[in-house]
Amino acid sequence: MNGKERRLRNILNRNTGRSLVLAVDHGMALGAMSGIVDIAGTIRSLDATGKVDCWLMTKGIYTHAFDPAGDPGVILRASGGATIAGPDLTREGPTASAEEALFLGADAMATTAFIGSGYEHETLVGMAAMATECRKWNLPLLGVIGLGKTNEEKKKDPKFIALGARVGAEHGADIIKTYYTENDFDKVVAGCPVPVMIAGGPKCETNLDTLKMIHGALQGGARGIVMGRNVWQSPHPTALLSAVYGLIHENMDVNEAAGLLDHLAAR
Ligand code: 5RP
Repeated sequence: MNGKERRLRNILNRNTGRSLVLAVDHGMALGAMSGIVDIAGTIRSLDATGKVDCWLMTKGIYTHAFDPAGDPGVILRASGGATIAGPDLTREGPTASAEEALFLGADAMATTAFIGSGYEHETLVGMAAMATECRKWNLPLLGVIGLGKTNEEKKKDPKFIALGARVGAEHGADIIKTYYTENDFDKVVAGCPVPVMIAGGPKCETNLDTLKMIHGALQGGARGIVMGRNVWQSPHPTALLSAVYGLIHENMDVNEAAGLLDHLAAR
């Protein structure tokens, strides 16, 4: 056992090897959006379900708004520095150090590389540099693969998503977070030597669509989700969370998970 293995146990469930990570790091670029205006309340109520393995958040939210009911893992979002008000959301740089992550008690760090964007080089070099820092402390690194707004079509292209996942792992990430592709997601996973987890992206039209996406990703070999809006912008966030947990950790199929969701939402 080394420090990285120990910390990964706070992220990936020991029994299933999978993880349900809730992302609440959106405010750093998008502001106080619906579902996370009262971010302390959102975290408290969702954590109280006992279904969240780990949280992804910035140091500001960790410091001022994180008071979970249980003892979940934490991945510290350590890149940012760009907002929707600025010229380019992909111009991210480091916003926290490995020492700071350790000081705060985080289990891992996360940084984004925007593949195919004008800042591909800077963000990839940033990922590699953060991987070097993380290695010194046996801190795992979550590599977030973003594409930027100009690349909407590429988000659905398994070849492009596979490229991003592989590139992230080659630059030192221990886990990759990327987009689900309806076709050939198994190929994305097969070409990536580290666990792959999916982000949600903007909210799906229905909760059922969210469940189908997660189920499809798990069937393709994903190790779970690092998701935000589809959960905390749902009309029934805690019910949806239980259904998602069922898919990830209890091998439910989509019908079983949807049945659980309906049952809990009706209470
Ligand atoms: C926001 C992020 C989020 O962590 C990520 O996109 C997951 O959230 P969602 O499921 O809402 O897309 O990087 O900056």
